[in-house]
Amino acid sequence: MRSALIIGGSGLIGSNLAKKLSELGWVTYKTSRSQEECNLESVIYYDLSDPLADVEILPLTDIVILCAGISTKQACEDAPSLAYAVNVGAPIKIAQYFFQNNRKVIFISSSAVFHGSKTVANELSKICPQTLYGWLKVEAERSLQKLHILHGQGSLVVVRPTKVFWKELDLLSKWRCALINHQHISAFNQVLISPISIEYLVNSLVRIAQSHYSGVFHLSGELELSFYNFACSLASKLGVTESLVGGEERLEEINIPKHALLAMDRTSKLLGITPQSNEELMRALV
Ligand SMILES: NC(=O)c1ccc[n+]([C@@H]2O[C@H](COP(=O)([O-])OP(=O)(O)OC[C@H]3O[C@@H](n4cnc5c(N)ncnc54)[C@H](OP(=O)(O)O)[C@@H]3O)[C@@H](O)[C@H]2O)c1
Repeated sequence: MRSALIIGGSGLIGSNLAKKLSELGWVTYKTSRSQEECNLESVIYYDLSDPLADVEILPLTDIVILCAGISTKQACEDAPSLAYAVNVGAPIKIAQYFFQNNRKVIFISSSAVFHGSKTVANELSKICPQTLYGWLKVEAERSLQKLHILHGQGSLVVVRPTKVFWKELDLLSKWRCALINHQHISAFNQVLISPISIEYLVNSLVRIAQSHYSGVFHLSGELELSFYNFACSLASKLGVTESLVGGEERLEEINIPKHALLAMDRTSKLLGITPQSNEELMRALV
């Protein structure tokens, strides 16, 4: 039976992944900062911002999946030192412990490692972030790669997902409710996204965890669409007229990447995971 430790087990990705791995029969542990959750034997209290936190309290599972992080661009800008400690320092410390013990480390990075201004990036494209959040992901990826080479054992996987959507996401619940009641909604028409569903992400992470391949993998939607086009797709899936969706201009245009899509050449070739179709995404969100 295989075992996994999920760092950040109460977050969106971590909690869904822990549930899926347990259902599949993996012995699953997770870290959390919630005292209530930590009453369970399989949940370990671990604060990534605490420099004195002892990695040796973590169970040495076959795989550790680093899903914790300060996960919004704004939160990183608001507290850069804390964001560095949590998004870079702590993953390095945990990965070091797992590499030393010859284990597999999976790090959840982000499409924000790319500038998104020229071409669609694949797994081998030059990284060039635009935001502090993206820079921290780059710094973590590079440090983990160096550390892995230094130790010469264990394995490292870096996964870069695009934006993750889920059915209960506030914005989607509001839009669905308005549209089925034939009310108008408005959505940005210049901001591009290439969303994936949490189910697609979790199923892909399971495939990655089971495989013997290491290196960088991308997880992306097949389409690049504006929020406006996405909302029109949603309306159509709900069987209501797209004329209920209005376009909205975003006033500040700083840091809006021109591309949100990631190419998945290596991921498709080695793992057989293809970009999520818009049809499958809509099915998961309606
Ligand atoms: N969601 C997306 O669209 C997306 C896309 C690409 C990449 N990612 C990356 O994937 C990872 C997980 O994202 P997510 O959406 O699951 O984020 P999330 O829902 O915000 O969860 C973040 C997790 O990190 C934990 N955390 C934050 N600060 C911590 C600290 N000081 N000590 C211990 N744990 C701490 C949180 O614990 P608490 O619950 O205790 O706060 C939570 O479990 C992040 O690195 C994010 O950058 C996310």
